[in-house]
Amino acid sequence: MKASIFAVLTSLFLFHIQYALSWPGMTTTLKDVMSMGKRQTNNDGDEPKELIGDLLTLSDSQLTPVAADIKSILLGTGSAESSTIDTTITPPLGSKACAADTCCAYKWLSLAMIKKFAGSSGRCTRFARAAVRLGFHDAGAWSKTSAFGGADGSILLTNELDRVDNKGLQDIAAVTKAWYKQYQPYGISMADMIQFGATVATVVCPLGPRIKSYVGRIDNPKANPEGLLPGVNDSADKLIDMFRQKTIDPHGLVALVGAHTTSQQHFVNISRDGDPQDSTPGVWDVKFYGETLQPNPPVRVFKFASDVALSKDPRASSEWNEFVNGQSHWNEDYAQEYVRLSLLGVKNINSLKECTKVLPPAKKSYTAPDQLYLTLWLSGKYPQLGKYIDDAQSLLELVGSILPILKNVLGGRI
Ligand code: HEM
Repeated sequence: MKASIFAVLTSLFLFHIQYALSWPGMTTTLKDVMSMGKRQTNNDGDEPKELIGDLLTLSDSQLTPVAADIKSILLGTGSAESSTIDTTITPPLGSKACAADTCCAYKWLSLAMIKKFAGSSGRCTRFARAAVRLGFHDAGAWSKTSAFGGADGSILLTNELDRVDNKGLQDIAAVTKAWYKQYQPYGISMADMIQFGATVATVVCPLGPRIKSYVGRIDNPKANPEGLLPGVNDSADKLIDMFRQKTIDPHGLVALVGAHTTSQQHFVNISRDGDPQDSTPGVWDVKFYGETLQPNPPVRVFKFASDVALSKDPRASSEWNEFVNGQSHWNEDYAQEYVRLSLLGVKNINSLKECTKVLPPAKKSYTAPDQLYLTLWLSGKYPQLGKYIDDAQSLLELVGSILPILKNVLGGRI
């Protein structure tokens, strides 16, 4: 195994030398083709926005400022992104000063999460992507007719993880449970830990939105009903109906599936383990939307049947097309819909607190340091590199790490 990695690295290194000699001065920059235009307000496919939880019964005069802000986000009038950052020195975990600020323990948790979610390439790691999916799978197991469920931590407090829907979430589950053990004594529920993990992960991915993050959800030790999560072979009709039952309209669904911009599938087709859903895994860009529509995207891009079906459905396609060149439009819509998703089944919205201030800053631009190698991998070469890309390691660094070995082998002639 080691020998095969060495062989790949050696041939990559030689390719790099050859390439550099052929085009001296050529840089491996990734052209950022995203449109960072203004928010567009095309509401095609939009349906009246529904309220959820206790917001269904409380009058405006009864709402806390936080709940009033959440209400405006759910109704589509308020922004779900925020750049407010806490720059004060965070008191030590366990101190009186830390206990006095609800968000203090989250600041420490956020720092631990960033270490796990950010890779040396600047892209986000497989743990970050799985954290986003974990957030969806905990909250999404809910419908308007459910008596309980939703963003309640049950995915990690019960045996829900054994369900086929949740295959692939085992590693992030183990990491999140360890964080829970460490931070639960400071008042962090499993439900909040999971949703906070999803928003930290999203903003750690380059270009990802900085989504407003709320805490105070209540854990539920009872497994959520089955059959409430989508399947990769579901029709557009089934997907749209299923998400409507979660109060998410086709527009919202189109925004949320854009999370596949970061992903690398493992179980849909195991013979293509590690293949990404667009040509920039680990980057929160809009390439996923364009490449899902393309008949011939890069060889290694693996499109999900559900995404293709949705992209062609008349209730979803106009929004899908708008996102193709609409990074800021998508970020804004994704953030709005994620706030909704992260509150499904939550019945105490009026007592939540906001801790967005402890999220890391958003990364508004990104150039892959190792684009040359990524391009080779995307064209079908060097499948072994998938593992390193999954971990968001810089392939340049990887190739650099064999330089001393090659120098030795070649007797210092390089
Ligand atoms: C139309 C509904 C959806 C379907 C059918 C679907 C299906 C899937 C499948 C089959 C995978 C690959 C799992 C694997 O083989 O490793 C996946 C990955 C992923 N999904 Fe979805 N998904 C849907 C919606 C969503 C939504 C709404 C979100 C987030 C809000 C999301 C976030 C992700 C992420 C981040 C990954 C990558 C996980 C990783 O790399 O480990 N998905 N999804």
